[in-house]
Amino acid sequence: MTFTSIQEAMNKGDGEVSIRGWVHRERGSNKIKFISLRDSTNVIQCVVEKEVLGEEKWAETSLFKMEASAAIHGNIRKDERAPTGYEINVTDFAIIGKSDTFPITRDQSPEFLLDKRHLWLRSRKMTAMMKIRSTVTGAIHDFFRQRGYFEFTPPILQPNQCEGGSTLFEVKYYKDKTYLSQTWQLYAEAAIFALEKVYDMSPTFRAEKSKTSRHLSEFWMAEMEAAWMDYKECSEVAKAELKFIVQQVLEKNQAELKVLERDVSKLTPTAENKLPTITYTEALKMLKEKCDLDVEWGKDLRTVEEDKLATLFDTPVVVTHYPKEIMAFYKPTDDTQTDAPGPVAKCFDVIAPEGYGEIVGGSERDTDIDELKKALEADGEDVANYQFYFDTRLYGSVPHSGYGVGVERVIAWICGLENIKDAIPFPRTMLRKEP
Ligand code: 4AD
Ligand code: MG
Repeated sequence: MTFTSIQEAMNKGDGEVSIRGWVHRERGSNKIKFISLRDSTNVIQCVVEKEVLGEEKWAETSLFKMEASAAIHGNIRKDERAPTGYEINVTDFAIIGKSDTFPITRDQSPEFLLDKRHLWLRSRKMTAMMKIRSTVTGAIHDFFRQRGYFEFTPPILQPNQCEGGSTLFEVKYYKDKTYLSQTWQLYAEAAIFALEKVYDMSPTFRAEKSKTSRHLSEFWMAEMEAAWMDYKECSEVAKAELKFIVQQVLEKNQAELKVLERDVSKLTPTAENKLPTITYTEALKMLKEKCDLDVEWGKDLRTVEEDKLATLFDTPVVVTHYPKEIMAFYKPTDDTQTDAPGPVAKCFDVIAPEGYGEIVGGSERDTDIDELKKALEADGEDVANYQFYFDTRLYGSVPHSGYGVGVERVIAWICGLENIKDAIPFPRTMLRKEP
């Protein structure tokens, strides 16, 4: 028996087929049963009749319980009344793996579904999300490879902070200690002197003490770093990447977006239009004039402010030139920026539409060792720990820039998810490290 996927069987449309998968739903009487069988490609209704199978085989149909795995042989045909448009009249079947009473039924709490995540992955919504996730990560690799970037993999165990000491995860390291990566950045900056244009997507760890719908403790960041590039050009690369990701999902995942009940018209502007850039100072002005929100110059944009700003755009918006004071130590001052009342950095964030918050953070990198030391000391860091980083500035330093995309935030936005936890198969947050 040669098996095809359910989708391939549907594409064939009539005649004999053999498929295998899991029981999605099951109903019927003591003469006829309707089994919805699902595999990774689709779901199909299979009709099992006592008259066709005979008394002995019919007895086995009691094993068609939810999530049992089965192989089914029969005749497929188009049927308007069937939930997915096709039906199989079963002539033979085999139960491959019996199923206990499946613990997930309708209307269960989000917490219960998180506890049973290993089983909940089989749901149509999680499956749809994971397929879109695969498109997104594939698109990121394609985007950079098509542009001549090399994949460069950083260490995950790192001795230093780069994005603030308060969110570091400490790890026992033999008789010493080290930390889980907050970003690949400091290592990517070393790599550009050999490879010039690099990218990577890797697990990233932050001990976020916030229980928001946007923060994970373990997430995936897709980062790039390029020599000879200023922050402006860098932000254009970020725009092109986001555009490409959305275009790929719209091209490949219409069925999954439908399962997720996503309003696709919210994504098309990003696929089709130019993405806007404004400065932080302009953003404050817009917030005041159009949203009646007063933000003191020099303060970081909080969630409420990012969300308000996002209501003014139907695509992601790039915000440049945040106050130097509140930025990470490696973001250099921009002396040429004149619309700001104080020192600003050559940096940018990208804010997603519809309240999905900051999806990208990037900047030019300071090449001045004294400035770097000053900023690190102001953060209370021991500069001795950063000698390897300063070394990168000692031998043929060049202007360079980079950014990081929060992969789950992008997926949450594209899928229209309420919580970032549903953008990753097994979420890790302040309150959850299992299953
Ligand atoms: O803005 P961040 O902190 O930037 C960096 O780490 C830079 N070193 C990147 C670079 O220039 N190479 O983080 C980048 C992005 C954020 O914009 C956000 O989308 C995501 O990573 N992010 C998180 N996503 C989920 N959970 C968290 N706790 C996140 N923290 C940051
Ligand atoms: Mg940031």
